[in-house]
Order: sequence, then C-alpha cells, then structure tokens
Amino acid sequence: MQFEEKIKQEVPQDDSTDIAEKMILYTEIKKRKPQIVVEIGTHRGLTTLYMAHALWENGKGMIHTCDPNPEWYQEGNFCKFEEFKDIIKFHLIKGKDLPKDIAPIDFLFIDGFHEKEFVLEELRELMPRLSENAVVYFHDTLGSNVSCDPLGAAKEFGLEVEIINTKNGMAIYEHNKNFSDNTDNSSRGATSNEGESVKPGVQRVRVASGSKRIRKTRSKRSI
Ligand SMILES: C[S@@+](CC[C@H](N)C(=O)[O-])C[C@H]1O[C@@H](n2cnc3c(N)ncnc32)[C@H](O)[C@@H]1O
Repeated sequence: MQFEEKIKQEVPQDDSTDIAEKMILYTEIKKRKPQIVVEIGTHRGLTTLYMAHALWENGKGMIHTCDPNPEWYQEGNFCKFEEFKDIIKFHLIKGKDLPKDIAPIDFLFIDGFHEKEFVLEELRELMPRLSENAVVYFHDTLGSNVSCDPLGAAKEFGLEVEIINTKNGMAIYEHNKNFSDNTDNSSRGATSNEGESVKPGVQRVRVASGSKRIRKTRSKRSI
C-alpha cells in the first residue's frame, strides 16, 4: 500500500492542508534531508505524517510537532504508525513554548494560529534556533487579513520569502540562499500518488525595506 493510502485509511478525516501542499512538504524533506523538523499546528497530524514518512524514507531526522489543543486526537493517530514512534514527538503546547533544546532546526513549518502576532511570537522564539541551511515554510498565506496574516508577520520580521501558488498559499524563507540555489528545485512540482500533478507556480517576493536579510531575487514585488 502506498503511504498516502495508508494515511488516508488511518486518518480519514482530512480537513487540513491540501494534498499538493502535503506533497510539497514531503518532497522538500526528501530533498533537504533535515535532522530536526519543527511543525507548529499539528491538528489531526496529517502534515506531520507526510513529513514523518519522508524522514523515515531518508533514514534520519525527527519531527517535533506542537498544538495546544488535544481534541484533534493527534497522539491516537500517531499510534497507528508504529514505524514513526521514534520519529514523531508531539508537544501539547503552543509553538512559542517549544523547549529550547529543540535546536538547531533545519526545517520549520508554521501552520498554527495564523494571526500576525502569534506568528511573530513564534518567529522571535524559533528563528534564532535555525541551522545554517534551514528553511521555513508558512502555510495559509492566501488568507491574509487581520486574523490570518502569516505574510504580514514575515514582512514585519524582515524576512524575504518566496510565494508558492498553492490552494491555500504557501511561502518559503531560505536561511542560506546559496544552498537553495545549488539544490534541485524540481521537487516543488511533485506528483502525488493519485496522479494529481502538483506544480504550484513559484513567484519571488521581496519583503519591504527594513529587512534583516535582503537578498537578490529573480523577480520581485512588494507585499
Ligand atoms: C490549520 S491547523 C494545522 C493543520 C495541520 N498542519 C495539517 O495540515 O495537517 C492549525 C492548528 O493549529 C493549532 N494551534 C492554534 N494555536 C496554536 C499555537 N499557538 N501553537 C501551535 N498550534 C496552534 C490549532 O489547534 C489547530 O489544530
């Protein structure tokens, strides 16, 4: 059985991230081979499971995922995947409260409460812990308004991000651009097991002045 089918069978209530977005996380982890992955916003654990499967295939790395709300039965879902017992560590806490010894972080996926102030708190806490070649993925970037504004948080924090045109919108911040330029970007267009083509358009975005890290971009627009 393909892993996507197994996940669908064990966690049938999928009210989370779009399949293309899950596959982007999976393929990026396969490509980057991170040692420490952090996810903010576990929900039922679906994106966690996709990322954990990539780590399991890589043969190294673990994921720390956190959510202050236990009602989504995350741990029960994770128990169904014996192979991930040493790969997934669930923390029943907010992202900003993740233990300080979770470092250096190679891959950070921010998908918790999307309000700007919450994302900013998470960035303040976790950005200093990134490893040299780390990458940060923001989810739900299309819903930017007062209550959902991860891009506003990235901008205020001074991050230059790249937008990926997926259903809900994603953005990437790469800590070491040179590392990224030397890697194969083809995994950003992956194919899911269902044969669905996952080829989100990639659009460079330069965050406004005052950035802590301003870098050259291929094409630019302000957010
Ligand atoms: C959009 S869902 C996450 C979906 C999940 N990543 C997936 O696609 O499978 C957002 C989750 O963030 C959780 N959450 C809310 N505030 C949070 C915080 N401060 N830190 C971590 N998680 C939070 C919510 O309880 C909810 O389960």
